[in-house]
Amino acid sequence: MSQLPLIHARGLVKRFGDFTAVDGIDVSVAPGESFGFLGPNGAGKSSTMRMISCVSLPTAGELRILGMDPAREGTRIRARLGVCPQLDNLDFDLSVRENLTTYARYFGIGRRQARARAEELLEFVQLADRAGGKVEPLSGGMKRRLTIARAMVNDPDIILLDEPTTGLDPQARHLLWERLFQLKRRGTTLVLTTHYMDEAEQLCDRLVVMDGGRIVAEGSPRSLIQTYSTPEVVELRFGDERPADVAGKLAGAGERIDPLPDRLLVYAADGDAAVAEVHRRGLTPSSVLVRRSTLEDVFLHLTGRTLVD
Ligand SMILES: Nc1ncnc2c1ncn2[C@@H]1O[C@H](COP(=O)(O)OP(=O)(O)OP(=O)(O)O)[C@@H](O)[C@H]1O
Ligand SMILES: [Mg+2]
Repeated sequence: MSQLPLIHARGLVKRFGDFTAVDGIDVSVAPGESFGFLGPNGAGKSSTMRMISCVSLPTAGELRILGMDPAREGTRIRARLGVCPQLDNLDFDLSVRENLTTYARYFGIGRRQARARAEELLEFVQLADRAGGKVEPLSGGMKRRLTIARAMVNDPDIILLDEPTTGLDPQARHLLWERLFQLKRRGTTLVLTTHYMDEAEQLCDRLVVMDGGRIVAEGSPRSLIQTYSTPEVVELRFGDERPADVAGKLAGAGERIDPLPDRLLVYAADGDAAVAEVHRRGLTPSSVLVRRSTLEDVFLHLTGRTLVD
């Protein structure tokens, strides 16, 4: 039983008119897994999430959530999902606490239990001191945390988070990551979208990289980096010379050379050895940075573009 995937999609397609937003993707999410969709703007992440959330029906393909068909059992599925949409849709006429208790009532949770659940969740997302206040004056990060708390009201089997931390400052993001990490540790199944590679690396056991409605790669952050990149990357900047012009002089200095508009990337197992080779060839970069490979490098390699500009 527990081996059945909670989410199972085969050849999933979403079209809007003659535009194909999701172009035949296969996805399978197991219980307890933390699964991510990583991709740039317009990749089809939200369109996919909306189908999984049962608020938008697939145009074609097969989709099963918790073993059920969204077209026939949407209501039953939705009762067992926690959904945090890309844009917060909190009720500004209600207090912070009422946003949770009212939502709980939709799921048939009794008044007293809803109240207790709300207190517990507000504690969890560190908003207990704002419980009686209005939603509007909350910061972006606080609103996001309230939306996540609301998604947990019905004690869902899967929590779906569409860009949980987009637009938040680093401190607010780290607080949210920490809360999500706790959920993950408790064994909650998380499905999230992001265009932040560091978020995907921190939170996802497994992820798919999406681009133009398709999945271009799939694996754990570590396995993706191993497959599509090298352990280290050297970033070189040059004063006057264009990276593309310098690239020719560096053939063989690393496993791969990638000239970007503002810098040149040398992919190598040993970054320091690659730097030594750069100097041996008489090049004098104005700055040199040796770093570990990231999912950004994976994305660049797969698509030829950077993830976040
Ligand atoms: N209701 C709609 N009608 C028409 N086109 C749509 C609709 N929803 C999405 N699209 C288009 O589908 C494509 C994928 O959109 P989607 O919102 O799924 O991307 P995304 O990966 O979530 O992007 P972002 O990172 O910007 O949130 C885009 O080109 C978008 O314009
Ligand atoms: Mg989106």
